[in-house]
Amino acid sequence: MGGYTLIESAPLGTRNTLRVNARARLLAEIRDASKLPELLAFPAVSQGKLLVLGEGSNMLFTGDFDGTVLAMATHGVQVEQDGDVARIAVAAGERWDDFVRWTLGRGFAGLENLILIPGTVGAAPIQNIGAYGTEVAEFIESVEAWDTQEQRVAILDRAACAFAYRDSVFKHEPDRYIVTAVRFALPRSRELRLDYAGIREELARMGVDKPAPFHVAEAVVHLRTKKLPDPAVIGNAGSFFKNPIVEASLGEAVKREHPELVSWVGADGRWKLSAAWLIEQSGFKGERDGDAGISNRHALVLVNHGRATGADLWSFAQRVIEGVHEKFGVVLEPEPIVV
Ligand code: EPU
Repeated sequence: MGGYTLIESAPLGTRNTLRVNARARLLAEIRDASKLPELLAFPAVSQGKLLVLGEGSNMLFTGDFDGTVLAMATHGVQVEQDGDVARIAVAAGERWDDFVRWTLGRGFAGLENLILIPGTVGAAPIQNIGAYGTEVAEFIESVEAWDTQEQRVAILDRAACAFAYRDSVFKHEPDRYIVTAVRFALPRSRELRLDYAGIREELARMGVDKPAPFHVAEAVVHLRTKKLPDPAVIGNAGSFFKNPIVEASLGEAVKREHPELVSWVGADGRWKLSAAWLIEQSGFKGERDGDAGISNRHALVLVNHGRATGADLWSFAQRVIEGVHEKFGVVLEPEPIVV
């Protein structure tokens, strides 16, 4: 029985960055993706619920999981084609930040704005990770997944992935695909994205006037470490809420009453509002109830000060959603997967 390990009644406390002490009825850690069909065929696995886990940096367990947690621990990075644009296939279990640093070291551009995002490569397409004006979708050529419905390996090209803001087909059909690898197309150079608030200022502070991708990455590392709490220090899952996208009429109405509203108008005319701003103005930044709370550093980040349970965290998140709705009439949605 090579390629995977099975553990019954497995603790998940160290496998989710919100540090919730939930348990899984069965934990299956897989190191060889080709063994997936064999593993999924076990009655104990096939007859119950299944949840795929990377680093657990985008997940809230509100209680124990009565099914199989499939931990992806596959590794490998393969450059399939080099040149002006490189095609690179990466196993789902690789750490995202390690991969970004590897690409920068090899002189590939594109992922510099996405440095330091927690999580695995396999999780990146699921919520289409993004930061500082770049989304990963732009550099994904295809995603390889096990299609549990069709019982075969599926290769989804970028269009089939249906990427949108923190969204993809994998979120819409959560039980269908198990991402096993991601194929990237990375250029040797590109026009750098420096427009997001803070980047140019940070580069100037660093004394860089002709930035290369690794300079941008360094600037992003500075910005992120200043603003976002480190999950190694305090339990959190990054942004817990998505920036809500609302009809122009609602955006305008909120802006009339609160001219300081932070917002961006999208290409489709709808407005994206800063959830962090809405939450801070509703008085939740730095607030807590027991060990569940909102970070005092960034209002989008739900934090576990120590012993909060998943239920505590989820109920605090709901208080935030209700508070923002009462004050602004805007409904926030969680960004992580709530189990
Ligand atoms: N703001 C506040 N209070 C705060 C924090 C921010 O009012 O406590 C306001 C400020 O006016 C600030 C604006 O919100 O200018 C935007 O803040 P920030 O640049 O931090 O970006 P964000 O929209 O809050 C998004 C992503 C982050 C990503 C940053 C930087 C989402 C849900 N979040 O946050 O992604 O790092 O932009 O690009 O889109 C994540 O998804 O886990 C994540 C951390």
